[in-house]
Amino acid sequence: MVVMGDMIDVPVELGDRSYLVAVGHGARSRVASMLPSGAKRVAIVTQEGIPSEYLPHLDGYAVTHHIIGNGEAHKSLSTIEKLCSEFAQAGLTRADVVVGVGGGMVTDVAGFAAASYHRGIAVVHVATTLLAMIDAAIGGKTGVNIAEGKNLVGAFWQPHGVACEMDALATLPEREMRCGLGEMAKYHFIAREDFTALPLVDRVARCAEIKANIVSADEREGGVRALLNYGHTLAHAIEIETNFAMAHGEAVAIGLLYAAHLAHVMGRIDSARVDEHYRVVNEVYGSDLVMPAGLDESRLIAAMGRDKKALESITFVLDSVNGLEVVPGVLEADIRTALTAFSQRLS
Ligand code: GLY
Repeated sequence: MVVMGDMIDVPVELGDRSYLVAVGHGARSRVASMLPSGAKRVAIVTQEGIPSEYLPHLDGYAVTHHIIGNGEAHKSLSTIEKLCSEFAQAGLTRADVVVGVGGGMVTDVAGFAAASYHRGIAVVHVATTLLAMIDAAIGGKTGVNIAEGKNLVGAFWQPHGVACEMDALATLPEREMRCGLGEMAKYHFIAREDFTALPLVDRVARCAEIKANIVSADEREGGVRALLNYGHTLAHAIEIETNFAMAHGEAVAIGLLYAAHLAHVMGRIDSARVDEHYRVVNEVYGSDLVMPAGLDESRLIAAMGRDKKALESITFVLDSVNGLEVVPGVLEADIRTALTAFSQRLS
């Protein structure tokens, strides 16, 4: 990473598709330098509630604004169709660019609309939530939900740049901040380092760097990128079984703790390492999460088996003395034993 004054630049190395993630207060001012040369029109995709001050000012371009709805129901193919129609009405050509300003939902949707329109036009993201800054906006995963599953339709479409606007975190609702911190906890275990004492801007930049390095090594998730799903197998099941009442980052925080119990049950880590998961998730990240009441164990297990990351059987990312590993074929008996141990520890 390169530190210039208050701005930290993290490169994502992907050959001729390499780009920068700029982290800092005022990072939105970097957007103009991230636009492809030759672009004349900019379609800014954002949501109600994202303060207009975070929308980049782009003199010399024909700028249009496109608002998408809030909530998972709007993360849909009909939103993509509506955006693409609006892009066409605004006269966007293949040389023009989409700028997504917001959290992970905006970057997923704006990215997929950009990937689809004219078979792919450039996109730049301005991340305004912690979760988008450290995960969703980086790495080119875009997509929407269909009735059969979350993010089931999408594309890998790398942005031309990402601006992590740290100013936006000052007014981020507390729950969204906690969600970002839950997701941030996974990097502690992926990198096996404790960066919790760093100032927030440095933590964001370090997480962005860890993610950037993983994406550079495995853009299409043939191997190491799957480690970014640490904590996500149970998390996705909880999100589905609570009908998304539990937010993604909260569910990931719980999923990390559960994954530690499961690794312990399977003899992969000792109890001190389980305690370390609790320290990071509960103390350092200030999470006091509990498993939502009333969840049926068998339904959770069935939902984990349907996770799109699952290979031929229930697959988890699990810790070991050598670090995180993708572990297919986890036995249902171990999953149940760990669920019991987990609920006993939380109660
Ligand atoms: N959010 C996980 C990934 O980008 O691979």
